[in-house]
Amino acid sequence: MSTLSIGDLQARFGSENVEFFAGPGQLTALRIKNDFGTVEMTLHGAHVMSYCPAGAVPVLWMSSKSMFQANEPIRGGIPVCWPWFGPDPAGKFGGHGFARVSVWSVSSVSKSPDGQNTVTLVLTEKDVDAKFDPQPFKLELSVTLGSALTVALKVYNSGTDNLAYSGALHSYFNVADSAAIQVEGLADCEYSDKVLNVESVQSGAVVIDREIDRVYRRTSGIVRVVDPVFGRVIRIAKSGSTSTVVWNPWIEKSQRMPDFGDEEYHTMVCVEAANAPGAAADDRVLSPGAMAEIRQMITLE
Ligand code: BG6
Repeated sequence: MSTLSIGDLQARFGSENVEFFAGPGQLTALRIKNDFGTVEMTLHGAHVMSYCPAGAVPVLWMSSKSMFQANEPIRGGIPVCWPWFGPDPAGKFGGHGFARVSVWSVSSVSKSPDGQNTVTLVLTEKDVDAKFDPQPFKLELSVTLGSALTVALKVYNSGTDNLAYSGALHSYFNVADSAAIQVEGLADCEYSDKVLNVESVQSGAVVIDREIDRVYRRTSGIVRVVDPVFGRVIRIAKSGSTSTVVWNPWIEKSQRMPDFGDEEYHTMVCVEAANAPGAAADDRVLSPGAMAEIRQMITLE
């Protein structure tokens, strides 16, 4: 776990484009700011809180009710779900794994000749609360701010046994009116509908006209969030992910979640680059010494 103070982090990794600061809830945070835009993230969860391309309305959504507390997930931005997606397969802990509630360390900060900045954070089993009793692993989360926001999660099996996991880059997108958007790029994909509890096949674009919680299988193409009110298209490309999750909690589930405003479902949609459990093709098993990467690239068209 990072034990460096904000001053130490700034001295070691700060630059004209990367600044460390006390974020919401006093969580240690950093800001990347360059000609392409601004990104803010916390070391808690290696969590991207915000992404604003220069001159644009924020691309990522953050709940006004989000907790910013140790051991609690942040509601919005890009939670890193790992080593499980959805309910804990062992039935002991909460959803979406421990990576999003653990404190990561800064491993490197760099700048490319074309002016892109990259920050890489790292998490190993030694940084995780002992109650989770994790197998040996190393995660590296790299965030690059260029003409796209690129988020890449590398998973290393640093142990001597196979490492089985699922996970996701659980991105929340900021939209003007969720009922007016179209989520393109998933037509004809098979999906599990977690609300209706049925398997189905997508016809045309996804529209948000009720609670939507779907795991689309065998997806690799580009997904576009077409927002006619903001007059823009968010383009989401990915690799190393076999499923795409689309989620909007709609009315009742919003009211049930303490860290989600009752009306906030109007302004968000999640499009998640996932390796969800359930179908064999989605299961991830890394042999000792092996590495896998899941990557999401977000741009405005
Ligand atoms: C989505 C799941 O990925 O995350 C939903 O498909 C879930 O079922 C949502 O409600 C939010 O999860 P959490 O644990 O952050 O409240």
